[in-house]
Amino acid sequence: MEARINVEVEELVAWIRELGGNSFFPDQLLARSVMNVIGSIVFGRRFGRHDTQRDSFLEDLYTFTTSLWTIMPVNRFPLLRFVPGFRGPFCRQIATHDRMMEFIRDNVRRSFADADSESFVSRYRDQSADDFDPVELDFIIRDLIVAGTETSVTSIRWALAMLANHRQVQTRVQRELDAVVPPTRLPSLDERPQLPYVDATVLELMRRRTVAPLSVPRATAADTEVNGYFIPAKTMVHGVYFRACSIVTWAYLGGGACAWALFQPTLIVNDGICAAIVIFSSSSRTSKFRHSLTIKLQHLGTSYPRPPIPGL
Ligand code: HEM
Repeated sequence: MEARINVEVEELVAWIRELGGNSFFPDQLLARSVMNVIGSIVFGRRFGRHDTQRDSFLEDLYTFTTSLWTIMPVNRFPLLRFVPGFRGPFCRQIATHDRMMEFIRDNVRRSFADADSESFVSRYRDQSADDFDPVELDFIIRDLIVAGTETSVTSIRWALAMLANHRQVQTRVQRELDAVVPPTRLPSLDERPQLPYVDATVLELMRRRTVAPLSVPRATAADTEVNGYFIPAKTMVHGVYFRACSIVTWAYLGGGACAWALFQPTLIVNDGICAAIVIFSSSSRTSKFRHSLTIKLQHLGTSYPRPPIPGL
């Protein structure tokens, strides 16, 4: 997986270099790059630089994710889909989704046609054998792409903005990379323990610019216990990432409005505050219920571009 990510990071850096130091809006390049990473892992083939099918899909994906909030009321109250004002956006969302699924089905077909392709698709088919369900496969891929693309693009876009606005952090990140990684290649995940400041910068970025601050609602399928706290079946559980991470930092700094807004990876490096990130969740059935979970954010599907890009 790392090798495939590196291919796309090198391509992204080449795209940016070709802009010759001119300013540009990074959204489209980042979206193509992230989609190429997911596509190469899932379908086992690279999308070309000017792949129009991929670009149309990305436009649909953008429309789909940004319209999710608009049609949220229809999700809650399905009868609203017949009400003018809701019907139009709802039908457009269905049409967009249909086009996205067609793109996915087409690429799954191509993966199957290529007997040599090493991909999520081929592994899924081999492992499910007699239980193979093509519709389920299409929807798993849709979930991976929908969940993985906009989140990664937004995180990288914020990383660029935060590093550009905090030159001392950027310099220290670069210095640490230069000390550990030879200039002829990209960093490897194996080098992560030797890159504590880079690691901390990623975590600090996720604290300051949390992509899904309220996560997505979950429900317990059965009675369960987490860290000694009992959670009854059918309880809605939210991970409140933003508040949890920020409260830890804010409390550590002794409170105060500006502590909230800092971008300071050293807190994490020096004191290990976010070696694990604390999540508080709440239940819809027992409002006073609260429990904490510790997780490590090892989820970032991206790498760090190197060497430094002039002008960024
Ligand atoms: C910086 C990038 C990313 C961020 C910030 C992010 C954030 C999140 C969050 C907050 C959740 C909800 C977790 C919860 O249940 O509380 C989630 C779930 C999920 N993410 Fe990511 N994600 C990122 C990248 C990716 C990538 C690259 C993929 C796949 C290619 C992916 C696939 C998924 C899937 C499939 C789920 C649902 C898991 C489940 O239902 O159990 N994510 N992500």
